[in-house]
Amino acid sequence: MKELLFMLGVVTHVSSYCPEMHPMGLCSFRVVCRGDIRDVSLPYKCQGSTNIPVTVNLTLTEANERFDDKIIDVEFFSSVTSFRVSGNWPKTALSILEYMPRLQKLYLDNNNIKHIISNDEGGPFFHLNRLEVLDLSQNSLTDIDIFSFENYPNKMKKLSLAYNAIDKILGDVFGELTSLVELDLSHNLISDLTEEPFSNMTKLEVLKLNDNRIKNLNGAVNNLQNLKHLFLKGNHIQNIDDQSLKIIYDLETFDISWNQLDSLTSVVFSRHWNHFASNSVCKIKLSGNHITSVPNATSKEILERFTRSIRKNFNPVDVLTELDLSKNEISNIEYNAFQSLVKLSSLDLSCNKLVGFVVNPHDLEHLKYLNLSTNYITNLYFESFLSMSNLQNLDLSHNYLDVIPDKTFMNNYNLKYVNMTHNEIKELENLRIKTFHPDGGVLDLSNNGLFKFNLLFGEGLRLNILLLNSNNISDASLVKLHYQTELKTLDMSWNLIEELDENSLRLPVTLSTLNLNYNKIQKIAPSSFHQLGHLKMLRLAHNNLSEIEYGAFQGLTSLMHLDLSFNNIRYLDSKVLMDLKSLAILSLRFNGLYSLDYNGWLGHKIDLKVYMEGNSFSCEWLGHALTDFNNGYSRMRPTVLMRTMSGHSLEGIPCIKKESEMELARLTSASDSVMADERLLVLTQKILEAIKEQNHFMKRFIWGAHVQHLVETEKLKR
Ligand SMILES: *[C@@H]1O[C@H](CO)[C@@H](O)[C@H](O)[C@H]1NC(C)=O
Ligand SMILES: *[C@@H]1O[C@H](CO)[C@@H](O)[C@H](O)[C@H]1NC(C)=O
Ligand SMILES: *[C@@H]1O[C@H](CO)[C@@H](O)[C@H](O)[C@H]1NC(C)=O
Ligand SMILES: *[C@@H]1O[C@H](CO)[C@@H](O)[C@H](O)[C@H]1NC(C)=O
Ligand SMILES: *[C@@H]1O[C@H](CO)[C@@H](O)[C@H](O)[C@H]1NC(C)=O
Ligand SMILES: *[C@@H]1O[C@H](CO)[C@@H](O)[C@H](O)[C@H]1NC(C)=O
Ligand SMILES: *[C@@H]1O[C@H](CO)[C@@H](O)[C@H](O)[C@H]1NC(C)=O
Repeated sequence: MKELLFMLGVVTHVSSYCPEMHPMGLCSFRVVCRGDIRDVSLPYKCQGSTNIPVTVNLTLTEANERFDDKIIDVEFFSSVTSFRVSGNWPKTALSILEYMPRLQKLYLDNNNIKHIISNDEGGPFFHLNRLEVLDLSQNSLTDIDIFSFENYPNKMKKLSLAYNAIDKILGDVFGELTSLVELDLSHNLISDLTEEPFSNMTKLEVLKLNDNRIKNLNGAVNNLQNLKHLFLKGNHIQNIDDQSLKIIYDLETFDISWNQLDSLTSVVFSRHWNHFASNSVCKIKLSGNHITSVPNATSKEILERFTRSIRKNFNPVDVLTELDLSKNEISNIEYNAFQSLVKLSSLDLSCNKLVGFVVNPHDLEHLKYLNLSTNYITNLYFESFLSMSNLQNLDLSHNYLDVIPDKTFMNNYNLKYVNMTHNEIKELENLRIKTFHPDGGVLDLSNNGLFKFNLLFGEGLRLNILLLNSNNISDASLVKLHYQTELKTLDMSWNLIEELDENSLRLPVTLSTLNLNYNKIQKIAPSSFHQLGHLKMLRLAHNNLSEIEYGAFQGLTSLMHLDLSFNNIRYLDSKVLMDLKSLAILSLRFNGLYSLDYNGWLGHKIDLKVYMEGNSFSCEWLGHALTDFNNGYSRMRPTVLMRTMSGHSLEGIPCIKKESEMELARLTSASDSVMADERLLVLTQKILEAIKEQNHFMKRFIWGAHVQHLVETEKLKR
């Protein structure tokens, strides 16, 4: 390795401009310079006409405007194979490139270049006979008549001119780029392609013209026999036919989303698969146009579909098709609309005006993804779903479904994700999904006004996650899920449940997470959760609990996390939670608690973190609780989500000082102007109660050394 420490310049000159030089191989280096390129050279064995392949990746940041004024080490420059530079040159001749004949990759993006000056010889890239990649994106170029080369043909493979200000492309600017494979002209101002600037680029495979102002292709790309991916998103195209885009049949990606198409001409779906590799995916993106109807496939299109394999030496081509028709105005899909597509695997029809979805099931056999979200669908037609045995992802959200008709999903065994949020399903007696995917399923039935849900024996097998939040459930016993033995997570937050008793929760023993946040629960009777022996997480935040009864959590022997935050619990005795043998995290945040007896946890198996902010614990009590924990006399570790910076606190946990009588007096006088209302009365009462409680604690714990200390400091302060 020692011989690679060649950087005499760097090692000895403190004022070097190239602080980083990383050897990456025998004669392979990555060099990073700032401002200027100076004092850098390669080791001797990598210089001159060496046999070792030399690659030098040079990056120059914050380049001086005239950094190429004093080229001293021509030898080093002539070794550079990849050059990335960032600076600010509204106008430049890029003369430094004259010294870099071996350059293969050149990145000039983001340099505020408005104008590249061509010298007599024919432009800055003229002598770069090895150049393959050129990035001129994110500049302000308008005139791009700069691509001339000494050799013909040249080696240019990839050119990016994205994010410039190009509005006109003359017919011959790309004429010499006959080897180019990828051209990016996206985010410019191009509207006119009548000079057919791409006609010489017969090797082009990827052409990005998205976000320009093109109205009509007019055959401008018809020469590109090898084009595979054409991006025209965000233009003003109103019409596509086999004259304006002859090569459409061979495209693997055709993105014409966010244009102004208002109808689908037959060519848009037809493909010949001439240069498709096996297992390739054909993507047709028509999102964001004004299409109103998807007509039956024509007999010509269908014929093309079935003769496609013959074209390629009888090699059957295995292709999947992904079709995006979202965000149009489609109200009508004819029965054979998708017949010309080969193996349709993904179909997005979201955000249209469909009232139903009735299509030939044979064309949907391969569908894995179907998005019908945000339409006006009131009913599901079972026949459409009949052959979709591969369907995994079904989005029916934001429609007007009120029932799931008989047989709808009778042949769907691979559903992983079914979203029916924001429909009008009030009552569900049959889900109609027999079994989900072997990896488990997710069903979202939130936001429906649902108050009754019954999953029968033999239905909804393998359902793992069920979302019933934001519904109208007031009687939890109307949600019967006890046969769902693979259900792990149930969300019933944002409902109207007021009470729980031992008959309320008809849930399977397998459940591990139950979310009951944001209900109106006031009362939890003993044994309410008795059958949930595997529950690990129980959320009861934002309810109306003021008291926890003995036995309320009986049977929850696996519960690790209990969230009781944002309730009205004022007093809590750990003894009522002693059924929770595995409890590790308890949140009591924002309850207005002033008393918590933690004696019940003395023998708790593990440390129990209790989140405490938003309560009225006295600093004396808190000090004691912390000391007890720190000394190992208690298992309860008081903590907060966010440590407080202001007010009274211990270890960042807020608490109320003993002299709260004084505070009370202060508050009362201050409040004359601010809160002379009922809220103050309540507060006053709370504080008085708190003082009473604190006195009680003080009597019990006054001998505790820490408390004593606290009291003394308080006295001193006074
Ligand atoms: C040089 O840069 C090119 C392109 O960025 C990269 O593919 C190559 O791995 C780099 N080589 C070294 C030695 O860093
Ligand atoms: C286009 O390519 C042909 C050779 O295929 C070449 O003769 C012609 O000069 C090229 N056009 C331009 C503008 O360079
Ligand atoms: C579309 O095809 C279906 C089934 O062959 C046929 O019933 C329907 O009439 C066709 N629609 C039109 C407009 O031809
Ligand atoms: C369905 O489409 C909607 C709207 O286009 C989108 O927000 C949603 O994420 C899609 N659903 C899935 C499952 O991809
Ligand atoms: C269901 O779709 C809605 C949007 O319509 C989305 O917010 C929600 O996250 C989806 N449900 C799931 C489980 O992904
Ligand atoms: C919820 O149920 C009540 C009656 O129990 C009904 O008046 C109300 O309209 C329902 N809300 C929704 C959104 O369905
Ligand atoms: C909370 O419960 C109390 C009775 O404990 C009741 O008076 C009050 O209305 C309830 N509040 C809400 C928002 O349901």
